[in-house]
Amino acid sequence: MKLLTISGSLRKGSFNRKLLAEAARHFGEADVTEADIRLPLYDGDMEEAEGIPPAVQKLADQIAAADAIVISSPEYNQAPSGVLKNALDWVSRVDGNPWAAKPVALMHAAAGRTGGARANYALRLMMAPFGTEMVQGPEVLVAGTFKEIDDTGWLTNEHYTKGLVALMAALRAKVD
Ligand SMILES: Cc1cc2nc3c(=O)[nH]c(=O)nc-3n(C[C@H](O)[C@H](O)[C@H](O)COP(=O)(O)O)c2cc1C
Repeated sequence: MKLLTISGSLRKGSFNRKLLAEAARHFGEADVTEADIRLPLYDGDMEEAEGIPPAVQKLADQIAAADAIVISSPEYNQAPSGVLKNALDWVSRVDGNPWAAKPVALMHAAAGRTGGARANYALRLMMAPFGTEMVQGPEVLVAGTFKEIDDTGWLTNEHYTKGLVALMAALRAKVD
């Protein structure tokens, strides 16, 4: 079983990366790969001159090879992060569609009170063209991240932990 995690935040201390690490622990036995979406900005001229950058092709190959994928994105101004959208746009330019029928779960850790609910809606729309097998719920929207994830990277609130466990079980069930 291969699980790919994609963080919409590049920050080393990112709460979304911590949430992904906890998600992977709850997913159960799997080879876990953390995607690197530190990619050049999408530029049609660059694509024409140089083709698909190796880092984009690597990401597309990781998506294609994964049995399941979890994406966790912060909410920036009521939307998912720009780096995540950039990665989605780049991957849509490779041959074939690595996302097709792929089991995917979305979640969010955000500082605000909605826990990234608006980013979640927007991300679902952004991913609609790719034809994934999206897990519909439960929603994992961790609000006030700085209070909810401790220094060791674990959620401190049982309510969120329960949601995360259920979401990972639903993702695994889609693979099985
Ligand atoms: C440019 C920017 C915009 C933000 N906009 C929102 C927002 O709309 N809603 C929200 O809940 N938090 C917002 N935040 C706070 C982020 O949710 C918070 O910094 C979060 O921890 C970032 O995720 P990370 O810890 O994984 O890097 C914003 C932060 C930045 C830098």
